[in-house]
Amino acid sequence: MIILGIESSCDETAIAIVEDGNKVLSNTIASQILIHQKTSGVVPEVAARAHLDKFDSLLELALKESNLSWDQIEAIAVTAGPGLVGCLLNGITYAATLSAIHGRPIIPVNHIHGHILSATIGCSDEVKFPIAVLSVSGGHNDLYIVRSFTEFEKIGETLDDAAGEAFDKAAKMLGLDYPGGPSISKQAINGDSDKYNLPRPMLNKGYDFSFSGLKTALSLVIEKCPNTEEEKANIAASFQAAANDVLSQKLIRAATEFNVSEVHLVGGVSANLDLRARILRMSQEVGVTFRHPADFKLCTDNAGMIAAAAFYTNKANWLPPGEVPKLITWESL
Ligand code: KG4
Ligand code: ZN
Repeated sequence: MIILGIESSCDETAIAIVEDGNKVLSNTIASQILIHQKTSGVVPEVAARAHLDKFDSLLELALKESNLSWDQIEAIAVTAGPGLVGCLLNGITYAATLSAIHGRPIIPVNHIHGHILSATIGCSDEVKFPIAVLSVSGGHNDLYIVRSFTEFEKIGETLDDAAGEAFDKAAKMLGLDYPGGPSISKQAINGDSDKYNLPRPMLNKGYDFSFSGLKTALSLVIEKCPNTEEEKANIAASFQAAANDVLSQKLIRAATEFNVSEVHLVGGVSANLDLRARILRMSQEVGVTFRHPADFKLCTDNAGMIAAAAFYTNKANWLPPGEVPKLITWESL
């Protein structure tokens, strides 16, 4: 089944075409990073308007890249939440318009479901359930036990900031560019991660997370340190080590306690190479398979994961060709 996905829940406008939830035929993304760098964060109204400028050109590009026409597209998947309301509404309205024009059903998708499945996309070998999935981005920081492509149970979440948000705020404190994750990890390359012993909040306590104490400790270190590139690198490396230590240890602890076959790291923060390296090492020690999204485009918000989640959600109750397209209703959002 070939599904066209639309994602516009926050600051990425994205349209993708995916076959059978696994084969990415096109995954186009227009990032709003340059727009939001001016404000060091996302202004919801600005983000919502910026999506409207990109939908048509991304659709054209997705069809061109995949070498497909509307005859071959069987459904339209769209992120229905969670996200910024204005951004979601624009994506849903665009999907509804395409549905009316081309007569294809709409499949509403939960954004988090998309992230949860993103490390399975493109896998050539069989994914073995149950899986412990750590989904970390700027907006969420959750730990799930995933029992099938459509069944997942949240076992932990952040009590304050998400890890990506903490990376963004740490970067701001250090005077680095938005988004903070890539800036911190770049700065950390030449730093000494042992220079500052920052706290590892809630490391051995359950599966919830908290990053506010780490942020406060960081601000106290920055206040006392010389404002040099060398010191910034040491601080960035020490911050990254503290955050990644907590994330990786909780994931592996969950893997052993819930006796899973695989651990997956997904979401924007899964682009972090230090975090990947830690989880790879620890997963080998406990004998579980580690996966992260196959492509960096599948880490941050993208429509490939939305089209994939739609495939699995609708596998059981797919409308046969010729049926009246099922439009989503406001009540279902
Ligand atoms: O999934 P995503 O695109 O959007 C949300 O749903 O939030 O994730 C964006 C977040 C940002 O906070 C960004 O700083 C973080 O992912 N991020 C990273 C890296 N690349 C992006 N965090 C740590 N290391 C990275 N390399
Ligand atoms: Zn996201």
